Amino acid sequence: MDTRIPSLEKYQEEFERSLASPEAFWAEKAEHFSWKKKWDQVLSWNFEEPHIEWFAGGKLNITENCLDRHLEKRGDQVAYYWEPNDPAAAGKSYTYKELHREVCACANMLKGLGAKKGDRICIYMPMVPELTIAVLACARIGAIHSVVFAGFSAASLASRIQDCDSMLVLTSDGAYRGPKSIAIKSVVDEALEICPSVQKVLVLKHTNVPIEMVEGRDLYWQEEIQKSSADCPAEPMDAEDMLFILYTSGSTGKPKGVVHTTAGYMVYTEYTFRNVFQYQEGEVYWCTADIGWITGHSYMVYGPLLAGATSVLFEGIPTFPDAGRFWQIIDKYHVNIFYTAPTAIRSLQLFGLDFPTQYSLSSLRVLGTVGEPINEEAWHWYHQHIGKGNCPIVDTWWQTETGGIMISPLAGITPLKPAFATLPLPGVQLVIVDQEGKVLLGNGVEGNLCIQFPWPSMIRTTYGDHERCKQNYFSTYPGLYFTGDGCKRDEDGYYRITGRVDDVINVSGHRLGTAEIENAINQHADVVESAVVGYPHEIKGQGIYAYVICSKKNDDLAMLRLEIMATVQKMIGSIAKPDKIQIVSGLPKTRSGKIMRRILRKVAEGDVSNIGDISTLLDPAIVDEIKAGAI
Ligand code: WTA
Repeated sequence: MDTRIPSLEKYQEEFERSLASPEAFWAEKAEHFSWKKKWDQVLSWNFEEPHIEWFAGGKLNITENCLDRHLEKRGDQVAYYWEPNDPAAAGKSYTYKELHREVCACANMLKGLGAKKGDRICIYMPMVPELTIAVLACARIGAIHSVVFAGFSAASLASRIQDCDSMLVLTSDGAYRGPKSIAIKSVVDEALEICPSVQKVLVLKHTNVPIEMVEGRDLYWQEEIQKSSADCPAEPMDAEDMLFILYTSGSTGKPKGVVHTTAGYMVYTEYTFRNVFQYQEGEVYWCTADIGWITGHSYMVYGPLLAGATSVLFEGIPTFPDAGRFWQIIDKYHVNIFYTAPTAIRSLQLFGLDFPTQYSLSSLRVLGTVGEPINEEAWHWYHQHIGKGNCPIVDTWWQTETGGIMISPLAGITPLKPAFATLPLPGVQLVIVDQEGKVLLGNGVEGNLCIQFPWPSMIRTTYGDHERCKQNYFSTYPGLYFTGDGCKRDEDGYYRITGRVDDVINVSGHRLGTAEIENAINQHADVVESAVVGYPHEIKGQGIYAYVICSKKNDDLAMLRLEIMATVQKMIGSIAKPDKIQIVSGLPKTRSGKIMRRILRKVAEGDVSNIGDISTLLDPAIVDEIKAGAI
């Protein structure tokens, strides 16, 4: 059923209705799915424990809704066009019928390896169709997928495998990334040295690089799938059974496993996919996100398939073989809806207009952005040169924890304002609070963004540690879900996200905890202590600035910096490598030992004239040293 909102008036009506009777509203949006058994109760909740249940008593399998449900009407329609890294290599496409068959065969392969409902399966793969197939195959048998972005290091992969005791790892021999061929399997091998829970590793032959296969543990995907039947009934799941875990960075400690469950996630991702993009039957949709992030889960896999869409899945990078690759792919597949990150737009903008002007781009109807604030300059460039002034831009604000888009224009319906995510979607009850938690009413206010009522795809817990979920999201402002973002509501009631207010930074749309980067830097033998802050970066949105105290004087600072970067790459991955490293003799600490990050941020931003009060510092002289040595 097409649940699209057709006009601004209707949006306002739906929004009001979703506030007045949320249960009736979401029950109506859930009605058209295929349920093995309907729910008994739409919602029960409290934000104290927190405890959230949507559609309790309902039984279903999300893959029946992504695949089986469509077979009759759109079995021969393409679900995915796969575009390989190398434009000269052969691509592939999968109709809904073919995808269904592949998913069922893969599901049987997983069962054959001992996987069953409730088991955790780690997926560490490049952007190949088998990644999507693997995700859906897990859901088919009720196993919980934990996809780890294939750019993470062995240490990061190992900690994610250990945290949820994954019993299987699905991977590939290697990956292509632009001109590079990257080893994947050897990263898994290194990680598994400290992961006793893993029984089997399935390896997809993709780049055909030589790899080591561990006897009794490692199997080739292509060989095992041959033995697997393509008939696999879907496991009946409870509405609140876990669908997946996705690890994400927070302000403290190790990345946490955000847990999403089945029915609410399904209803919300489909509803938001249809409405935000105003997806129309037969259109081609392309989201450039990696499936290793939440955008890939919700708007590359589940949302589009639930809505019966045709999507493009791209293995490569925007600048290979040249900076026209995105635009070439848009023309090749006649993409109507294009969804990417502001960082990608800013980096392509630097290459000038020579690339986009070589392509027609006339198929485009809607443009989208996600993951970080978009600056007005990039917004206008995207609007004018890619959308030719005709395509609405949906600036979608949401988080791993929200599961789906929360604030966004509805394409072609909501009047736009550059760099504003605009208005909340129906069902989303936003509040802005000040530092003390006082709710700021009316328009023209700025503060911290919270949500006061549950929505179907919200985080249920952090895997294995419910207390952490409570502490992180529900304790700062009791009774509210705290997003960690700062936000303005302007005179028109439009929302603009101003960025994180906690110790999380957003580098090229990738979310990183400063504590996590500090822990990695501190692994270097000469490092005594470090402090990491973000600073404005022209392309990445935020860059990483590290202040480092070393145990001994080092004459070769260039080498030391390289070594520190290599340490971070080894501990986390190259996305977390500092852009700037300043060696300092001390850090600005208060008498109680707390680092005054405000000062470090100011120096990193190059704003040293206005450092503010430093009288509470243990050693105020350190500020002058830091200012003098700023990079
Ligand atoms: C930021 C990505 C401004 C925000 C889907 C949020 C944004 C964090 C936007 C979540 C946007 C995401 N405008 N900021 N349109 N979208 N963010 O979990 O700080 O990787 O809290 O989810 O990205 O990042 P995550």
